[in-house]
Amino acid sequence: KDYWVIVPAAGIGRRMGADRPKQYLPLLGRPLLSLTLRNILGWSGLAGVVVSLSEQDTYFSHLKEANHPLVHRVIGGAERADSVLSALDFLAQRVSGDTPVLVHDAARPCVSERDIYALLSDNVSSMALLARPACDTIKQSHRVGGETYVEKTVSRENIWLAQTPQRAPLNTLHSCLGKAMEQGVAVTDEASALELFGHSLQLVTGDSDNIKVTHPADIVIAETILRLRYS
Ligand code: CTP
Ligand code: MG
Repeated sequence: KDYWVIVPAAGIGRRMGADRPKQYLPLLGRPLLSLTLRNILGWSGLAGVVVSLSEQDTYFSHLKEANHPLVHRVIGGAERADSVLSALDFLAQRVSGDTPVLVHDAARPCVSERDIYALLSDNVSSMALLARPACDTIKQSHRVGGETYVEKTVSRENIWLAQTPQRAPLNTLHSCLGKAMEQGVAVTDEASALELFGHSLQLVTGDSDNIKVTHPADIVIAETILRLRYS
């Protein structure tokens, strides 16, 4: 069955500290968001992409992919969840409620096609996300007198780091994310909104290459990953 992809791209990239939102910084000479969209537009079975942009965005319309027939745009919001919800509102008016939706960060240009097809595989639950087993030792902290101390070490055996894409049927994601926001719950990914209402999500092991470009050094790492892949 065909699926849609939502790309939240309305963030400001505060941690990157650049002169423009990080999704428009050049990677291998092309804007990051352009590379992410080019990647997505190559996935088979794709019905369309909805990109969520800041109201102040002046960069998107200059991208090569801006006028692609499968690329649609909506105005995002203050939080990532607002941006995703805006795209879900757009889709809910156009496609059927059982359409599979993948939400994928604009800032993850390196996700591999193999991971996408693993996530979309018939053997995988309709609600699932790419994730990596934690590889660092995990410390839980507490604060005493303004300083931070180790409370305890958390076994990393069952700890996973969420990546994107995260997938769910349109109507389920739309109602769970909408309700979570109405209730004022801070959800930082789509899975957490689904979990809140008792849905079970499957974890699909993703590649470590699927980094989220967050800090300046990530630009160099992402460029290296892409150069190795496309050369
Ligand atoms: N995002 C969005 N709308 C927001 C905030 C974030 O669409 N209000 C998007 C970002 O553009 C990014 C993805 O969500 O593609 C993941 O967010 P993150 O990596 O945190 O990006 P920023 O919020 O832009 O970065 P920072 O948190 O450092 O400011
Ligand atoms: Mg952010």
